[in-house]
Amino acid sequence: MRKVQLPLITALLVIFSLALSATAQAHQPVVLLNTDTTPAKGPLLLDGTISFAVRASFAKSGETRGFRAQLKAGQSLAVQYLILDKSPENKLKTSQLPILTITSPTGSKQIIKLNERTKFFEPYSQTKYLYLGRITKAAEAGIYSFTLSAKSKSAVTIAVGDREVPGEVIRGALPAPTASSTPTQEATPTPSPTLTTQTSVGFTRQQVEANNTATKCWSIINDNVYDLTKWIKAHPGGQSAITFLCGTDGTNAFLAQHRGQPTPFSRLASFYLGAYIE
Ligand code: HEM
Repeated sequence: MRKVQLPLITALLVIFSLALSATAQAHQPVVLLNTDTTPAKGPLLLDGTISFAVRASFAKSGETRGFRAQLKAGQSLAVQYLILDKSPENKLKTSQLPILTITSPTGSKQIIKLNERTKFFEPYSQTKYLYLGRITKAAEAGIYSFTLSAKSKSAVTIAVGDREVPGEVIRGALPAPTASSTPTQEATPTPSPTLTTQTSVGFTRQQVEANNTATKCWSIINDNVYDLTKWIKAHPGGQSAITFLCGTDGTNAFLAQHRGQPTPFSRLASFYLGAYIE
């Protein structure tokens, strides 16, 4: 009896740990710009059930940031309010943190209560967070608006959705920020340069390898593809650190230098093109 049980228990443990690692993946990062002052000006998460980590930082009280997420009837609205478990963020009192108001498609408003302080280790960026509040509820069909209103200099992450698949983000008023300056037909994700939609699609290794120069520099990092062309000249750690990554999988080089540093990770997120498909 014992001999039969042991392999079974081992198999169950393996399945359980695989399930855990699958659900422990990172949320797709979206960084709110200083111009995203209202939900209408900010990005729209086309499918609010897909997990996104929306980051917002504020220089002073009174500043606002907004974004939107679309949901269908029968789906769930899942929202989490997080801060870095690191000074100065984790030293701020609740009254100094931005207020998150969610407005449903039919106009009902809910302010997220900051009533917990649960530690959370995010494996993708190797970053320690604290959950301060969360809600999950049945969604109304339509577009939810999220408004953050700052009470002091601060930075927060609002996680939306829980499905770990690539999602789409639309920015109505801005040109696609990640498109290469001289795109080629084969390598460009957006069908037309006049479109303002930034679409997250998949890219193959061949497509990444075709963008291997300082004028077209793509790299795979953690199974996502980034257009680093514009970052080459701006990188504080020197141009060659980035040109070295063009057309290759830069995961090891990036993590070796920047593991656990939120600034390089959020900067990287701003160059996101789409998922890497092998
Ligand atoms: C691929 C994308 C990369 C991004 C988005 C990125 C981003 C950044 C950012 C935002 C900083 C400034 C950090 C701060 O001020 O807190 C930085 C600094 C730095 N990076 Fe990177 N980095 C990347 C790749 C690399 C690689 C591959 C290397 C090394 C091989 C590297 C080496 C450095 C060094 C040495 C600094 C510090 C410069 C200084 O303090 O003077 N970076 N990087």
